[in-house]
Amino acid sequence: MMTVLITGASSGIGAGLAKSWADDGYRVIACGRDPARLAALQQHSPNISVCQFDMTDGEACRIALSDCRPDLAILCAGTCEYLDRGEVDAALVERVMRTNFLGPVNCLAALQAQLVRGSRVVLVSSMAHWLPFPRAEAYGASKAALSWFARSLRLDWEPKGIAVTTVSPGFVDTPLTRKNDFAMPGQVSVDSAVTAIRRGLAKGKDHIAFPVGFGLMMRLLAALPDVVQRTLLRRMVRP
Ligand SMILES: NC(=O)c1ccc[n+]([C@@H]2O[C@H](COP(=O)([O-])OP(=O)(O)OC[C@H]3O[C@@H](n4cnc5c(N)ncnc54)[C@H](OP(=O)(O)O)[C@@H]3O)[C@@H](O)[C@H]2O)c1
Repeated sequence: MMTVLITGASSGIGAGLAKSWADDGYRVIACGRDPARLAALQQHSPNISVCQFDMTDGEACRIALSDCRPDLAILCAGTCEYLDRGEVDAALVERVMRTNFLGPVNCLAALQAQLVRGSRVVLVSSMAHWLPFPRAEAYGASKAALSWFARSLRLDWEPKGIAVTTVSPGFVDTPLTRKNDFAMPGQVSVDSAVTAIRRGLAKGKDHIAFPVGFGLMMRLLAALPDVVQRTLLRRMVRP
């Protein structure tokens, strides 16, 4: 039976993916920090086992993930915090980078010896780094770093037969985005996100971006000259 390891499985997109694969008979290792939410997820299906650790702690990752041998590892856990009034809060930036960039790196380091030819790792990034959105200095930089890491890793792991996929969602309705106090165009449900991710993986894609229409608009904006991008994005700067 195929084993799918998912970080960030206690909430949002990760929880949706865990339930979907478990319902289809896959063995799912669901990772997160919150024991209550992990226990609730485990109730969903006997195919789900849970693994509790903080992925910003490299040693905790190494111990927790020492014997998983996943066929598919989805590194979905992440956080989002914005800077306010252009004030650079170093502690905030560190928290976001540790969770969104160094956390997945810790997981990859812990899992790499267990990955065999034919296995795949999936790094959940975001469209947020395609354009320099105001307030998203930390979040955008963390996802840009993760996506860049994935691009190089894809080449280095290709000869080993290990595939690397990046996922770039637009807005998905989860606890992470429910904190946002701004309009979220093109927002989709967790169910649509799960369908898009699973469809892309079934096709063996290196990059999965959804929703498609919003992604196309973002790509078009990202292709504009910097001065035009800034003129458009300046309107989003808060007084
Ligand atoms: N929602 C969106 O619109 C959107 C858009 C683009 C990209 N994304 C990305 O998609 C991923 C999932 O987001 P979501 O919206 O589903 O968020 P979510 O509902 O807030 O879930 C975040 C998950 O990450 C886990 N997590 C956070 N910090 C962790 C840590 N230090 N160690 C271990 N686990 C940790 C949480 O576990 P515990 O709660 O158990 O600690 C939780 O399961 C994130 O990487 C996010 O950046 C989301």
